[in-house]
Amino acid sequence: DQATDLQGKTILITAGPTREPLDPVRYISNHSSGKMGYAMAAAAADAGANVVLVSGPVSVRPPAGVDVMRVETAQQMLDAVMQHVKAADIFIATAAVADYKAKVLENNKIKKKGDELTLTFVKNPDILKEVAALPDAPFAVGFAAESQNLAHYAKSKLEKKKLAMVAANDITTSGLGFNSDYNALHVFWENGDKQLGPAPKTQLARELLSLIDERYKNKSSN
Ligand code: PMT
Repeated sequence: DQATDLQGKTILITAGPTREPLDPVRYISNHSSGKMGYAMAAAAADAGANVVLVSGPVSVRPPAGVDVMRVETAQQMLDAVMQHVKAADIFIATAAVADYKAKVLENNKIKKKGDELTLTFVKNPDILKEVAALPDAPFAVGFAAESQNLAHYAKSKLEKKKLAMVAANDITTSGLGFNSDYNALHVFWENGDKQLGPAPKTQLARELLSLIDERYKNKSSN
């Protein structure tokens, strides 16, 4: 959308998965490729914004003109986000952050023994929730990966995490969402909603950014 003008604005974006180590050679993670978040970063840079992209381990190439900070764990992602959030006008949480990490990070490789292995996990920080709860919080946009009752869960995330907008994707539709070049989004805000796609993530990112720009300007002028 050519009307999207974010000149002079700073946009902070998280992308990709986080990786939570279990021992020196193993980790748990998820299938996020970073494509959606990197497409958001490219669209924001094209719209003239200063873009800070906090990225988990991915193999997609960073867009030109974007400041990339690479992290592995949810805690590192939180630290990097908190370092840049003060300067941010808009925060977009595209990352698929691991909700839990191993309670104990073993110093040595976990040995094979017995037929079952039990590990204990503890909760990771909720980056988006912490950002949205800041006294001088940026305009906070969350993503929601849902496999059922998409609208219901998306609206509840909007309210519970006090977000400006939520972009929900149904991750059960094959060929869309995690690791695909395509996605479909159902975007919710306080008094409205809009469906985008299915479309290539690069196109969806431009459409979503234009919607964010519209809502952000609407909110700032109130
Ligand atoms: O990376 P791709 O392969 O392109 O795939 C894109 C995607 C499917 C990962 C993306 O479109 C998406 O849906 N991202 C959010 C995935 C997710 O983990 O959703 P969630 O419902 O668990 O989390 C809700 C929101 O809270 C998200 O904005 C997430 O970034 C944020 N969150 C979640 C947990 C946590 N500990 N900290 C967070 O900030």
